[in-house]
Amino acid sequence: MSPTPRHFLDLDALAPTELRRILDGARLGKRDGKGLAAARPLAGKTLAMIFEKPSTRTRVSFEVAMHQLGGHVVVLKPDDMQLKRGETIGDTARVLSRYVDAIMMRTGSEKKLQELADHATVPVINGLTDRSHPCQVMADIMTFEEFRGSISGRRVAWSGDANNVCNSWIHAAGRLDFDLRIAAPPELVPRPDMLAWARDTGARVSVTHDPIEAVAGAELVITDTWVSMGSDPENRHNLLAPYRVDESLMARADPRALFMHCLPAHRGEEVTARVIDGPQSVVWDEAENRLHVQKGILAWCLA
Ligand code: CP
Ligand code: NVA
Repeated sequence: MSPTPRHFLDLDALAPTELRRILDGARLGKRDGKGLAAARPLAGKTLAMIFEKPSTRTRVSFEVAMHQLGGHVVVLKPDDMQLKRGETIGDTARVLSRYVDAIMMRTGSEKKLQELADHATVPVINGLTDRSHPCQVMADIMTFEEFRGSISGRRVAWSGDANNVCNSWIHAAGRLDFDLRIAAPPELVPRPDMLAWARDTGARVSVTHDPIEAVAGAELVITDTWVSMGSDPENRHNLLAPYRVDESLMARADPRALFMHCLPAHRGEEVTARVIDGPQSVVWDEAENRLHVQKGILAWCLA
């Protein structure tokens, strides 16, 4: 029997030492991009990527990462596959595992991703579900640490919809031991299972409806789109307007606070142009680091 593949499904499933290994790999790979490319550590390896939802960063960063590491990708849209005609995820996983060395999936359903992982005999990577976006938050942490050193013991604030990215931040807070303060309207607070996980593991996560309270003393302020892919836009603008990250909210954070957004952004909605295009914003470094972190994740999965 072959060993269980090393899936990258959610940050709570990995020990802090494993998360650190991925971050170290990403950092070293970024520092010595040429050396890594010359070594071609993934020569002969293929990654299949299934996208049920659109993507710019995730798609391009994984594809370029595989290319730079000497491997290949196959990009799949469910509509072009027999999935559309009723072939099961389980059978798809079994078949793809005979062709490729790892599978990345972006889907709404975390159950579908889990089913893929349950039946695949190669590593499965979560490229975003409605529940979480772990690859993104690994890049975010790498970015914070480049600018400010270890995130452990720091204070991080989230203002807006407590969505999939926020959920992966909750997992990260528990695993890497920092304080996460979430400001969200009552209708859009984190899911009960996420808060239960934080409570049961002793993660330092708190929820308020007051963005000023959340950002007080924070060294990092994060937000995301008001309307995630697959979420109902109804009334979101009214609910979320008070959580917009503008200059006055940033001024309530630590004076050296960084601003992050996973992108795509909507200037004038969840963040003002002055903040996202201003001196505290590190969103382009954050986007670049998706590439370096994907290499760390691929190396960890395929080690
Ligand atoms: N941040 C992010 O995952 O972007 P894409 O949807 O473009 O992949
Ligand atoms: N929360 C956003 C993230 C996009 C990368 C969404 O799910 O649409």
